[in-house]
Amino acid sequence: MSAITLATLNRFKADRKRFSMLTAYDASFAAAAARAGVASVLVGDSLGMVVQGGDSTVSVTIENMAYHTACVARGIAGSKDVAPLIVADLPLGTYYTPEAAGESAATLMRAGANVVKLEGGAWLADTVRFLTERGVPVCAHLGLTPQTADMLGGYKVQGRDETAARRIRDDAAALEAAGARLMVLECVPNAVGAAVASALSIPVIGIGAGPGTDAQVLVMHDMLGVSQGRKPRFVKDYMAQACGVEEAFRAFAEEVESGDYPAPEHCYG
Ligand code: KIV
Repeated sequence: MSAITLATLNRFKADRKRFSMLTAYDASFAAAAARAGVASVLVGDSLGMVVQGGDSTVSVTIENMAYHTACVARGIAGSKDVAPLIVADLPLGTYYTPEAAGESAATLMRAGANVVKLEGGAWLADTVRFLTERGVPVCAHLGLTPQTADMLGGYKVQGRDETAARRIRDDAAALEAAGARLMVLECVPNAVGAAVASALSIPVIGIGAGPGTDAQVLVMHDMLGVSQGRKPRFVKDYMAQACGVEEAFRAFAEEVESGDYPAPEHCYG
């Protein structure tokens, strides 16, 4: 079975080929994502909401993340299709120091993650360097960072004024310089998404960050139309036009690759 690696995603960026990422939390949906040609699967701590029924990601533990990462990894290993790259979230409070991050990352790598993701800006540069030097690939996460949404005034678009936009660009540069191999950029105006993606040499994966990023990620339950509560502007319900889950995943992957998603109605101007 062949696999998507970080080198594959770097090549996609160099070739300006957009790619897709979807969240998954169990074996069956992860295997469906592989069959549908999704390039990367994110075991997101969004599971605190869409799987556990909470109202945020803060209650998610490292044990929860290791359990769901192992489920996803088994689903992908058992599939005959090209294996998507598995990125897993380090939950809140598990990476406050480089050493703590090292322990948490090792737990998720042992469970089957290829890359670990953490939320925050330049204050994490030492941690990203520490993990990278020890051979753990890191995905940074900037813009709206759900673990600390309360500090950001709630689930709101970030980087709207020039000072805030500059801070995101500076944080992105600092995290790339520290060794981050991927970046998720959430809920920012199109111009900020495009500026970060063109300034960095690593792939930038947008969620509500406009069409100028190198890739797009959605929470699976959102794009299948089964999430409860308010639907963010950037979400497209792919199940509305599909006959099944795999067809919805494939339509998402194809629309990301063709540039049809995100459309202007999914963007923050
Ligand atoms: O936890 C998650 O699903 C995420 C996405 C919103 C990118 O971090």
